Amino acid sequence: MDFLNIYPTIPVQIKRGEGPYLFSSSGKKYLDLIGGIGVNVLGYRDPEVMSILGEAGIIPHLSNLYMHTLREDISMRLNKLCGSDRVFFTNSGTESNEAALKFAWKMNPGKILSFEGSFHGRSLGSFSLSHLFIHQDFPRIDAPVDFVRWNNPRDLREKGRDASIIILEPIQGAGGVRVMNKECFGVLKELKKRGTIVIADEIQSGLGRTGEFLACSHNDFQPDVVTLAKGLGGGIPLGAVCMKEEIASNLKIGDHGSTMGGNLKALRLAGVVLERLLNQLMEHIRDIENSVVERYRSGLEIRGRGLFLGFDVANGEDFARIMREKGYLVNIVRKNTVRLLPPYIIRKEELTEFFDVAGEVI
Ligand SMILES: Cc1ncc(COP(=O)(O)O)c(C=O)c1O
Repeated sequence: MDFLNIYPTIPVQIKRGEGPYLFSSSGKKYLDLIGGIGVNVLGYRDPEVMSILGEAGIIPHLSNLYMHTLREDISMRLNKLCGSDRVFFTNSGTESNEAALKFAWKMNPGKILSFEGSFHGRSLGSFSLSHLFIHQDFPRIDAPVDFVRWNNPRDLREKGRDASIIILEPIQGAGGVRVMNKECFGVLKELKKRGTIVIADEIQSGLGRTGEFLACSHNDFQPDVVTLAKGLGGGIPLGAVCMKEEIASNLKIGDHGSTMGGNLKALRLAGVVLERLLNQLMEHIRDIENSVVERYRSGLEIRGRGLFLGFDVANGEDFARIMREKGYLVNIVRKNTVRLLPPYIIRKEELTEFFDVAGEVI
């Protein structure tokens, strides 16, 4: 094998996709509840996405050396949706968090707080802030980092007292699909008032996945910096850091940059994704949560919101294998949590059927 396989690979050879379904090379049809780890929000072979991917006229890449209306247009739309003032484009989640960290640090250097169970990416800055990697032996950034106990407002208040920067996931994904409680958001509001810069890592929870554009909005919380990636580029790499003016105005040319960040093809696709979210899909997600998820929530002990859901099983690997045989692709985190990040276009009947089968398998 030439590919460096450092992934827990699912033993299925995928040949094509259609809507929320994937098809293997042997022709088996799967309902995809992983969605390329939360990326394929419009499912597969969306006609608008396909037509942009096939467009001949567009320059795929231009670099940030030139002005372009698309860059301004998508920035404006993101600022409206995130309550921010300026946008920096990247190619991935970890790059968004690296940039956010540099921007916040420039304004307010000092102790950085993250949370137990957090995952912010695998490049060394994001890695240093990811509690899930605390036992991995790689170099860390040269800054004081501390981890707050999950959903413990007292610990957050105490450790927050002298913190300059806090990074949080409103819902932890790799950490087991755990929703941050209202009390912690209350403390975050206090700390923010006192001048701590709060970065919301909405890479998995944002982009409408929970029925609001940002998951922080469920708690009326306005972060200073929001990081996005995953489905923003409609299936091709695109990330964004959306920040308040105080942070942006502190940065100067050369402080940061990215060659490919915000390439034109990805921005064109972002336009489609944002349009569809606002016109139809966020409402669909709220509806599917109310009419389907809530019916199964207590029975399966489902955590999460919208289409960012998780529940525990006795043995994740066994569960995923059995579900695969039955035509469903699911992702397992922390050994026994089933994490669901399906395409937003999944229909009520499809999700209902999945929960019925999952209930039988459990
Ligand atoms: C919350 C969160 N932050 C950061 C990342 C890193 O994103 P990427 O893999 O695009 O670098 C992820 C990826 O799953 C994520 O879920």
